[in-house]
Amino acid sequence: MAKQAGAGKAKGRTVYVCSRCGDEAPKWQGQCPACGEWNTLSLLNVPGSVPGRAGRPAAAAGSVPSALDAGDTDEAARLPTGLDEFDRVLGGGLVVGSVTLIGGDPGIGKSTLLLQAAAALSQAVPTLNATGEESLRQVGLRARRLGLNPAHLQLLAETSVEQLVAAAGAAPGRPATRVLVVDSIQTMVAEGVDSSPGSVTQLRESAAMLVHFAKSTGTAVLMIGHVTKEGTIAGPRILEHMVDTVLYFESDSGSRFRVVRAVKNRFGAANEIGVFAMGEGGLREVKNPSAIFLSRHETPVAGSLVMVTREGTRPMLIEVQALVDESHSTNPRRVAVGLEGNRLALLLAVLHRHGGIALSAHDVFVNVVGGVRVNETAADLPTLLAAVSSLDDRPLAQDLVAFGELGLAGEIRPVPFGEERLREAAKHGFKRAIVPRQNAPKREGGRPDPALAGLEVIGVSRLDEALAAARQR
Ligand code: TYD
Ligand code: MG
Repeated sequence: MAKQAGAGKAKGRTVYVCSRCGDEAPKWQGQCPACGEWNTLSLLNVPGSVPGRAGRPAAAAGSVPSALDAGDTDEAARLPTGLDEFDRVLGGGLVVGSVTLIGGDPGIGKSTLLLQAAAALSQAVPTLNATGEESLRQVGLRARRLGLNPAHLQLLAETSVEQLVAAAGAAPGRPATRVLVVDSIQTMVAEGVDSSPGSVTQLRESAAMLVHFAKSTGTAVLMIGHVTKEGTIAGPRILEHMVDTVLYFESDSGSRFRVVRAVKNRFGAANEIGVFAMGEGGLREVKNPSAIFLSRHETPVAGSLVMVTREGTRPMLIEVQALVDESHSTNPRRVAVGLEGNRLALLLAVLHRHGGIALSAHDVFVNVVGGVRVNETAADLPTLLAAVSSLDDRPLAQDLVAFGELGLAGEIRPVPFGEERLREAAKHGFKRAIVPRQNAPKREGGRPDPALAGLEVIGVSRLDEALAAARQR
């Protein structure tokens, strides 16, 4: 909306931009007309298009349309990053000419991950690591400590996007950069923009120039973005719309495991995750993530159950823990870590109505082990079974897994990729699985799946059936 605002001449125009949703308004208002947030509008000077300005499209005169099949549709143009888990999140390697934004809390490992990837990429293609956060000495020391082989990696301490783009171009004795790492987008400034680093204006301009640079030269750009207290990348949402891929680090505080999730990916599956462990030598990939999210208890404990979720394109075994305790408050607490809070409230309502178990006088805490966020409804059934186990103070069998979505009528609904989930459970030695009836292998006819040998699959279609099956030891 309001694109017509401002003078619109070569001098540029003035609009107010919401720092939350990126929407534009012609005049200042206390509340963003698009997203309804208060006090988020700030003044933005949009420079007019000045032909020849580095990194920005010149006036439209030179733009010529081309036929669809003439475009570069080479799907195979991907570069391995040296870390299989990182390649996986990217959808099978770094796409040539793509722009990736990586967000995460301070100190979680963004710079480390990209330095490791850049060092590996530099073995194959000219790679430039530009930092506005650390000195070259610091980056060099870190690379040495990580045991990287950065002989071919170019480093640059720079905060001007114009300078950066110029430095990435070819020069005598140096080929043009094919991979550019920008650490971080909040420290970068577009020289033509009169606004401080990290401001909405600067972010938009700097990012736009880098996107244009990537698209016009076929250079892959990886940008690090800081996150706000709310956990989103600082700056207007528009930043996420401008790039091809958005990755976020997830982690439990104190845990050495790091999960990188693709929340948006034009070149791969959304929700795909890569799992790493942070150690002395930097980030090491975890090849068998299921194994780390299971904190195997010596003796069975009440309130714990292993569920089979699917993150991106692979199934994963993750432990869910619940603590249900008498509440001393008139307003009992419901706390969900790694799961959606509203979903938990809904599940407890279904448990009351269709399972006959009221927790209105109990505090309920639910935690997904390992710092992964599970957004799948397949976690419904295991979450409730864990809660009931805690309430009863009766441990569930240790060789039991579960998955399944819960409907408001108390029905257990099937989830996608049931077979694949069951195979993952069997592979890790689980003996029993409580799953939606439609996800259980068909009995009549056909030979049983040899991959499921040793796994007893209990198909259930109602919540009370599931509760009865779980209580049976
Ligand atoms: P860093 O990549 O600088 O985080 P970000 O760029 O996201 O702010 O990671 C810094 C943290 O990682 C710091 O707390 C130290 C730790 N670390 C290790 O444990 N091992 C290592 O080999 C490295 C390089 C860092
Ligand atoms: Mg950093």
